Amino acid sequence: MQSASESMPSAAEFGAEIMARADAAAAFSEPGDGVTRRFATPEHRKASDLILEWMRDAGMEAWVDGIGNTVGRYEGDRPGLPALMLGSHQDTVQNGGRYDGMLGVIVAIACVKALDARGERLPFAIEVVAFGDEEGLRFGTSLLGSETLAGTFDISELERVDDDAVSLAQAMRDFGLDPAAIPSLARRPEDILAYVETHIEQGPVLEAEGLPLGIVTAIAHSGRLTVGISGTAGHAGTVPMNRRHDALAAACEAVLAIERRCSGIEGLVGTVGKLALAPGAANVIPGEVTFSVDIRAPEGEVRMAAVRDVCGEIEAIGARRGVRVRFSDDHHSAGCVCTPWVMDQLEAAVVAEGIAPRRLPSGAGHDAMAMVDLTAAGMLFVRCTGGVSHRPDEAITAEDAGVAARALLRFVRDFRVEESR
Ligand code: HGY
Ligand code: MN
Ligand code: MN
Repeated sequence: MQSASESMPSAAEFGAEIMARADAAAAFSEPGDGVTRRFATPEHRKASDLILEWMRDAGMEAWVDGIGNTVGRYEGDRPGLPALMLGSHQDTVQNGGRYDGMLGVIVAIACVKALDARGERLPFAIEVVAFGDEEGLRFGTSLLGSETLAGTFDISELERVDDDAVSLAQAMRDFGLDPAAIPSLARRPEDILAYVETHIEQGPVLEAEGLPLGIVTAIAHSGRLTVGISGTAGHAGTVPMNRRHDALAAACEAVLAIERRCSGIEGLVGTVGKLALAPGAANVIPGEVTFSVDIRAPEGEVRMAAVRDVCGEIEAIGARRGVRVRFSDDHHSAGCVCTPWVMDQLEAAVVAEGIAPRRLPSGAGHDAMAMVDLTAAGMLFVRCTGGVSHRPDEAITAEDAGVAARALLRFVRDFRVEESR
């Protein structure tokens, strides 16, 4: 009788295939550095087709669901059993890395493939979900696929438009999806036993402590808003400085105010990642500026206080400079704490792999923060080089990828629901 450790691929065997698959998926990107794959685009379709192939290669039934998630199901020892759900997202940020999201999809499929190769069936089904839109790059939404399965998607988001003025609803129809079907896609809690996501840490802790894996304790509260500033465009050569209503100068003051308010408080972060101005000529004073504001904190009230203060400061800047300001709330996700018994079982699997257990919070958002509204949820973090992410040079090692797959497979084999919902 083989031991549990022997009855699974080595970290090297797992790791080689995982890295090769991450490279293969990275090829499906819009032009430019790194990987750019937005929801309901040709790149999404190609990556989804590849994931379907992997899922079927692992013995799963596989399909694209009504919100553009790619889903695979591996039946348990009897058909139709409730499922342990694994997965992560297949979309990326602009010029992002190849492991953020996709690693969790590939590792989950690798675990099912190892079970299938041994003809193993468990007392529950396994579903792997590659969520189609976690980052919200195209429409400014986020967690679109996971909120739909959790039944928390806000239908008003369907009116959002992308940079080409295509609405989310229209993009779904163009992708072969029916927006009206969204409410019917919510999963029943009784059908899902738990959701577990493997994801790169996107931070420096595991690397600093020489650990390949960590167990996530909580995910920060996060939210994004868009600020619009309307000033007065004018001739750069003839409008005296004391008569200007320069929208960009006001925006710059606002950016520094955001940085100031979000500095010096543990875990609170504020970022302006996207800014557009008009008319955009070197000899014209900018009349219009829009920019994004992303503010996060481990505690909801800390985040909300920062948002309130930042908006108040921007209004004061507007009044002082004689420019009009407006705010639109793009998206906010309540953070979450991971389910204790899921964390315990993930930790047991990590320890069984001979790795010191390390629990840590996530400053980054993940689909798990949506799935926790549907079922028990947990996350396994994987060390990433330099803690770098959302950049083309995001990197992990094949060894760590393999160790993550072994730990997740142990978790799956030993999985049991510890409390009724
Ligand atoms: O923004 C985030 O934290 C995630 O990458 N969507
Ligand atoms: Mn990301
Ligand atoms: Mn991610």
